[in-house]
Amino acid sequence: MRVATLPLVVLMTLLALTGCVNPPEQTATDTGATPGPQAGDRPIRIGFSMDTLKEERWQRDKMLVEQRARELGAVLDVQVANGDDAVQTKQADNMLTKGVDVLIVAPHNGVIAASIVEAAHRRGVPVIAYDRMIQNADVDLYVSHQVERMGEMQGQYALQRKPKGNYILIGGSPTDYNAQLLRKGQMKALKPAIDRGDIKVISEQFAREWKAEEALRITEDALTRTGNRIDAIVASNDGTAGGAISALEAVGLAGKVLVTGQDAQKDAVQRIVKGTQTMTIYKQIQPLAFSAVDAAIKLARKQPVETNDKVNNGKIDVPSILHEPIAVDKANLDATIIADGYHKREEIYGPGK
Ligand code: BGC
Repeated sequence: MRVATLPLVVLMTLLALTGCVNPPEQTATDTGATPGPQAGDRPIRIGFSMDTLKEERWQRDKMLVEQRARELGAVLDVQVANGDDAVQTKQADNMLTKGVDVLIVAPHNGVIAASIVEAAHRRGVPVIAYDRMIQNADVDLYVSHQVERMGEMQGQYALQRKPKGNYILIGGSPTDYNAQLLRKGQMKALKPAIDRGDIKVISEQFAREWKAEEALRITEDALTRTGNRIDAIVASNDGTAGGAISALEAVGLAGKVLVTGQDAQKDAVQRIVKGTQTMTIYKQIQPLAFSAVDAAIKLARKQPVETNDKVNNGKIDVPSILHEPIAVDKANLDATIIADGYHKREEIYGPGK
């Protein structure tokens, strides 16, 4: 079901029709059955464990989670691990020790973060996997966008415009389950053309830590191996797209090779206007952040949470709220990213334009 572009009220009604997740049996504190936080209730304490603030989008996530928690009267503790698994585990442990009622976790490493879920459950604290899945664990809820679908959109977009030729596929961090889901979606779109021999995949690597430098290296290498004969680069996010485009610029090919992305971050949208990046996947962060906080409060209060999907994480089918991504290029940039106020017009097109 496609839901993210709908107003929250409609979204919630739709979700109510499609499914719901029951909170875990045990919670740290029983705050009563009153629906939603109300004056007189003890505020719900939410811990938000983040991997990183490196990409622009994560700063938005943090700001919007803070805003929603404030609006709903919840007490929020945000910790950022800066890509360090040991730090993320420790920060989550500390939040549990301090007595959070619910944890929202955007994991650095989807496998290692399973230990955070175990530690939380030992204390009866429910866990929401945020944006990135936590693998092989009894995750209570997953709140994200349709990640595999985004990969498919990137692949389809490239294929429609470059139905034949040499392709580079640049994946994200191998420790991030999103990177695998994206690749799965990309391959779903591209495989028939690969099997027909229309498309030749020159390189299909994953960029460690989603680093632009890795994407640059992968692209340089593929350019060298093909004597600069590359037609499309399916980069999994805008950061890696930026790295790939730097490599193209160095050989005078920027703007001539199709490049995909994801996140609609400012520099990428500017590149779309300039013509060096072809498209991005626009993921609205507000519905994501708000639905995570809303669900966190419900789980903490032992109230059911409406979901619209299930995603298998290797252990269970995790009840999920998945929001809809939008493919954006020059043609629909104004009607989407600018119209929504995600970026201001002058920030993208320059002053007075
Ligand atoms: C997120 C992307 C982000 C990437 C790097 C992924 O899990 O879904 O939005 O660009 O991580 O932080």
